Amino acid sequence: MVKAVDSALFRETLGHYPTGVAVVTAMAEDGHPAGMVVGTFSSVSLDPPMVAFFPAVGSRSFEHLRTAPAFCVNVLASDQESLCRRMATGGAGKFDGVSWRPGPLGSPVLDGAVSWIECTYQDVREAGDHYIVLGLVHELAVERSTLPLLFFQGGYGRFSPGSFIATPDPELIQAAQLAETVREQVEDLSTELEVNCGVLVKIRGDAVQVLAANRGTVAEPFPLGHRQPIVPPLGAAFLVDSTVAEVEEWLGRAPDDDRDRRDLYRARLDKVREGGYSLLAAEPHLLRHQQAALSAFELSDRLPRHERAVRQATSELAELFNPDLLPGELYDLASIVAPVPTAPGLPPMAIRMTGLPASVTAERIESWVSRLKQVAAAAGTAMTAGRG
Ligand SMILES: Cc1cc2nc3c(=O)[nH]c(=O)nc-3n(C[C@H](O)[C@H](O)[C@H](O)COP(=O)(O)O)c2cc1C
Repeated sequence: MVKAVDSALFRETLGHYPTGVAVVTAMAEDGHPAGMVVGTFSSVSLDPPMVAFFPAVGSRSFEHLRTAPAFCVNVLASDQESLCRRMATGGAGKFDGVSWRPGPLGSPVLDGAVSWIECTYQDVREAGDHYIVLGLVHELAVERSTLPLLFFQGGYGRFSPGSFIATPDPELIQAAQLAETVREQVEDLSTELEVNCGVLVKIRGDAVQVLAANRGTVAEPFPLGHRQPIVPPLGAAFLVDSTVAEVEEWLGRAPDDDRDRRDLYRARLDKVREGGYSLLAAEPHLLRHQQAALSAFELSDRLPRHERAVRQATSELAELFNPDLLPGELYDLASIVAPVPTAPGLPPMAIRMTGLPASVTAERIESWVSRLKQVAAAAGTAMTAGRG
């Protein structure tokens, strides 16, 4: 008798093995495209050429796929996380708005995938609660030789070469150079208002601090170079000029991804778009919790499970984000952020004020906001000019 293995331990242990991510597609018998995400795709044999994947016995999507004589394995690229999330849902309509073309055997070949492998079924056999599907390869091609999407510890990521030389991040270097052109204005603002000011840039999904002017009276918790994953409600200031797809990607980073929550974050973003700034009220317990999650994340080589903790702790800040300011009331603020209107082609940037004194009036906050917005507008003009 085999010893029973705890299912949580099984998942946790096997989740430490990384996989690629592929979408298996087919033209189902009903004439509609079908698809499912698999992390279990593997190459099996060269002669004859065979590949395999393991769908769950109970998978509705596989039941649907299987009505076709052929299927296509589409290997997803690192920039296709949102497509992956959509394809990993159950039910109909997951191909709505997804662009594809039929492969040689008629199966959908997804636009933007790294490669595709079209097969017929060689064998389908049961193995516990999954099937082992063996596919005989008919046609295949590399479509876009780029980094694939990887899945590890329940999180998405991408390959980074184990070189001795740190990979230069051209956007980060460009942003640091641009920030340099507005150093004086940012330092003057810090001196004038006696608060800490920093320039932040959005690099992929992170906010990175590329300039710091800490003339405030309160110690600054964010060092230069600090990188923080942008999770709703934070980061709205970087999204004021973003496309619908970029906003969707931001919303998808929230841990509590339901419709009400999305509407709430969208409303917060609209408020930032209208007002030209965002505020975060200080609530020591919630902020400490989020800071602790961030430190654990940074100290852990940015592991996915720590990233999840950051997402959770950050989304809990939603109630502190952009409170309505009432005349005569006193507020404790953690930060004020204003987007920098940069030219197209430049990464989104923002100026953040932190180290703010406690118990300030709405009127004083409004005067800070108006100075911050002036400096952000001037910075946008200087950066656009400095770029040429
Ligand atoms: C990264 C990732 C890998 C997955 N790998 C598999 C897999 O190998 N086999 C499987 O049956 N489901 C896998 N799934 C789940 C399915 O893609 C999909 O969520 C599920 O099949 C939807 O339910 P349904 O099959 O009943 O329609 C994976 C999901 C994700 C996000």
